[in-house]
Amino acid sequence: MDMPMRVTVTGAAGQIAYCLLPFLARGDVFGTDQPIELVLLDIEEAQTSLRGVVMELEDGAYPLVSVIHCTSNVSEAFVDCDVAVLLGAFPRKLGMERRDLLLQNAAIFKEQGEAIHKYAKRSVRVLVVGNPANTNAAVLAHFASAIDKKQITALSRLDQNRATSFIANELKVSPSVVKNVFVWGNHSNTQYPDLFHAVTNRGPLPDWLRDENFLREKFIPIIQERGAAVIKARKLSSAMSAANAVADHLRDWFAGTQDVVNMVVCSDGSYGIRKGIFFSFPCYCYGNGTFEIVPHFPWDAFGDPYIQRTKQELYKEWDQAFATLLPKSSL
Ligand code: NAD
Ligand code: LMR
Repeated sequence: MDMPMRVTVTGAAGQIAYCLLPFLARGDVFGTDQPIELVLLDIEEAQTSLRGVVMELEDGAYPLVSVIHCTSNVSEAFVDCDVAVLLGAFPRKLGMERRDLLLQNAAIFKEQGEAIHKYAKRSVRVLVVGNPANTNAAVLAHFASAIDKKQITALSRLDQNRATSFIANELKVSPSVVKNVFVWGNHSNTQYPDLFHAVTNRGPLPDWLRDENFLREKFIPIIQERGAAVIKARKLSSAMSAANAVADHLRDWFAGTQDVVNMVVCSDGSYGIRKGIFFSFPCYCYGNGTFEIVPHFPWDAFGDPYIQRTKQELYKEWDQAFATLLPKSSL
């Protein structure tokens, strides 16, 4: 057995956490030899509900969970943290766009960034899920300046899974044989799900799945609006599929994978995206929380307007978030 890994989950009384915690506790994410100490953060008003979640975790009798600690104190939550899974935020309701959450939630990620900067291990790996996830990650990275930006990611794996599953359904094959589905940009309705490089075990996708009308009228808007469709149907935002995507993201980031996966990461200038912007890129994961942006797989002329739109949206979100969070003199 390895040394316990200290995993902090924020928004731990919320619906994604409820679906995610069993994956973590069973070893489905960090491996069945990796004990974990769970630190569960939620606001004071949610502590009673959080105690119920802890009772259920205890009743799971999970051998890998060595400690469960609950808190509403942000500083305490990140002491010696190895992995931070940041779910805690106000979720989108019917009729809202994710960007409507920007100012409310950016303040949360500023505070958590500062706490991670002060209290977490320097090797900490952070996954931001709370929306608007890309810009929240950028805010967190700014205020956690002691942490290498390559250790901070946000979730676009749900978009990849949605796109992959859609194609698998169209082709009547298992999602496991659909590879190289890329998702570029913001986790918002401007994201660009890109099939240009996608393949199955039978080779390239058939022409009808690459037809520009099909992509423009059907595939792209369905993936872009999938989160809203779930909210409309459930009156709650996605939770089971979000938790599954969080588990996929973390497992691949820590264990490594041969497949290209999509992650929101800090741009190093790749593909002409401004440095510092958190953008969903196709990535290779090499294990132990390392990755590289897949180089040299550009989008085609059809994709370019989509990329420009999602890029501009992120630049605008950045300006809005930092205009309120930073003193005017530093802008
Ligand atoms: P939820 O409302 O069920 O749970 C959120 C929890 O966060 C609540 O328990 C709340 O008390 C807590 N919280 C609020 N402010 C907090 C703070 N400052 N510190 C700690 N905890 C705090 O929401 P959910 O369905 O679990 O979704 C969580 C977030 O994830 C939302 O922002 C949602 O929009 C987002 N989300 C992102 C993706 C993605 O793919 N990136 C997918 C689904 C949901
Ligand atoms: C999703 O994609 O399902 C989540 O980001 C929730 C939302 O607000 O759409």
